[in-house]
Amino acid sequence: MVENVKTPATVTKLKRGLDGDIEQRKKDHIEIILSGAARHTEGNGFDALSFVHNALPELDFNEIDLSTTFLGKTLKLPYLASSMTGGPDQGGVINRNIAEAAQAMGFAMGVGSQRIALGGGSGHGLNRDIRRVAPDIALYANLGAVQFVQGMNVDDARRAVDAISADALILHLNPLQEVLQQGGDVNWKGVLAAMEMVCRHVGVPVIAKEVGAGISVDVAKRLADIGVAAIDVSGSGGSSWAAVEGLRRADAQGQSLGEIFRNWGLPTAHCLHAVHKALPAMPLIASGGIRDGLDGAKAIRLGANLVGQAGALLRAATLSTEQVIAHVAVWEKALRVACFCTASQNVNVLRQAPIDRLVFDP
Ligand SMILES: Cc1cc2nc3c(=O)[nH]c(=O)nc-3n(C[C@H](O)[C@H](O)[C@H](O)COP(=O)(O)O)c2cc1C
Repeated sequence: MVENVKTPATVTKLKRGLDGDIEQRKKDHIEIILSGAARHTEGNGFDALSFVHNALPELDFNEIDLSTTFLGKTLKLPYLASSMTGGPDQGGVINRNIAEAAQAMGFAMGVGSQRIALGGGSGHGLNRDIRRVAPDIALYANLGAVQFVQGMNVDDARRAVDAISADALILHLNPLQEVLQQGGDVNWKGVLAAMEMVCRHVGVPVIAKEVGAGISVDVAKRLADIGVAAIDVSGSGGSSWAAVEGLRRADAQGQSLGEIFRNWGLPTAHCLHAVHKALPAMPLIASGGIRDGLDGAKAIRLGANLVGQAGALLRAATLSTEQVIAHVAVWEKALRVACFCTASQNVNVLRQAPIDRLVFDP
């Protein structure tokens, strides 16, 4: 449930027309996502799937093992706190709260875009502080793929990784957001070739992700061909970046376009299922509208190795480490219950759990 839903009038006040000011833009993003006004109104696709209930699991609930290995690192929980950038003050708090919870619970963390930090702006907690509080977690750096045809190079990618001592680098693909954002980067020619250079030379695994519009089978295959180590499909059903950018626009055309494209994208369950079928060996992350640990269980059943949440985690992340732990604990418990009632003693068995209904199977 979304708390503190703001009226459209309140959201209107956020349209400050400061698109040159990246820090202000990041603050607006957080406020708009927290307001609940920028969600897809169509679902993530997981309601089309249900498990066969097993009334005789023959398992001890307390012995269910949720640990997993992703890109060579063992996690206690197949959960990723997905990349979220904040403004200068919020970014540091959000990162610290998530990092401390990730260390305590053994889940993975992606930081938000490090573009401002690399540009010499304030660190937003994007320095060794994260590693200091979370020495053992799987930690992923983050930059926009399009930046690599706008002047960024492999050295910048290495600096982003080194700045936080990351285990991997996420490159995000956000063409819809960029084209709807005032002053966004709209020349995407050469992005794939630039990503290939990064994959070859950055020295850590590269994860390609969308930001809520999904990765198609065709795009996934092209990403596999250039050597990405994993894909986060980040599909539709949760945060809508078309809606976010529309709500930030002061002009009527920009506002209309944000609404027209609010629900654009591939529902997370659909693209996850299709990409896993096409590329069964590709490590996959499922994010985009993940509501709870039952969505997480279904994502794992459809081929995800990790399950990510951004929008649903944001409120807790702005509050405290304890709130993040409480939020992820419910997520974990729901995943455990789904394992129990499908007689899955671990996530590998869950991947084979009988499905009762899967209506979108192409
Ligand atoms: C406040 C906020 C900031 C975000 N910033 C980034 C970012 O800097 N880099 C990125 O790759 N994704 C970013 N995302 C996108 C998320 O990682 C995720 O792909 C997307 O929001 C869909 O997941 P959700 O429906 O769980 O929010 C951001 C999301 C939120 C909510």
